[in-house]
Amino acid sequence: MHLDHLVTSKQLSRADIETVLDRAAEIDANPGAFADRYPDSVLGLLFFEPSTRTKMSFDTAMKRLGGDIVDMGSVDSSSVKKGETLADTVRVIEGYADALVLRHPKQGAAQMASEFVDVPLLNAGDGAGHHPTQTLLDLYTIRENAGLEDLTIGIMGDLKYGRTVHSLAHALTNFDVHQHFISPESLQLPREVVYDLHQEQEGTQIREHDSLEGILPDLDVLYVTRIQRERFPDENEYQKVAGEYQIGPDHLEDASDDLTIMHPLPRVDEIAPEIDDTDHAAYFEQAHNGVPVRMALLDLLLSNAGGETDE
Ligand code: NCD
Repeated sequence: MHLDHLVTSKQLSRADIETVLDRAAEIDANPGAFADRYPDSVLGLLFFEPSTRTKMSFDTAMKRLGGDIVDMGSVDSSSVKKGETLADTVRVIEGYADALVLRHPKQGAAQMASEFVDVPLLNAGDGAGHHPTQTLLDLYTIRENAGLEDLTIGIMGDLKYGRTVHSLAHALTNFDVHQHFISPESLQLPREVVYDLHQEQEGTQIREHDSLEGILPDLDVLYVTRIQRERFPDENEYQKVAGEYQIGPDHLEDASDDLTIMHPLPRVDEIAPEIDDTDHAAYFEQAHNGVPVRMALLDLLLSNAGGETDE
């Protein structure tokens, strides 16, 4: 696998995805073998938006590889507050780090920033755009629980603003997957994403619905997402759809016994807590998979960039 930067999941071929997932499985099986790979490497964390899982799992992943991190900290305590541009900030921090992780509220920010730096830049979410490292851990979780062949997945909730959805949907076109998209009309997938999915699809079939009714029994995986309040231009519009598209214990009566329920988290009230203790719930395992998968990705990128391993 050779990638200079990881900005969208569209850059990832099926072979790239399998390389990362296979490496993550090796790490999961034998974490000690990867413990001191990058003692001289530093990962720069630049988070211009809140994050718990993504930031902490990158931090943990780098430390478990034997490396270290430098963290820009909150926007309020950085020079961004003084009016520094993103292009300047990334050019400064690339001097302190061997790779950068960027989360930014503006769609397209990661692409733009990547054009200013030579070290690998990983997009950890750009507005309503993409979130490709989340996709890799989602795919790892799907592969572990349901397999990626002959899969039927329902993706439900905020398909308009949900960047995890945009990235996952693109990546799934590399596999033999039926994708059902379930949302209110106002939160449907952006038309350009649907157009791209039709262009990219190999074995993939794509359908859009406004209700889960009738679809649930066919699903191997249900991927639920949060309605992204912070991205709504109008609070009234948010109020109209908030609270829709929730899943509770009653739904499970119609579901297959093997249904895997995923969520990138944070959840608000999309999944009832009663589901947490059932065999269907995979969302905490999914969040934990962020560590081996990000370790795998960093290992592959840092070794390409002339790190300590020779792969
Ligand atoms: C998501 C994000 O930030 O895009 N969370 C995550 O990275 N696990 C989803 C969300 O905020 O709803």
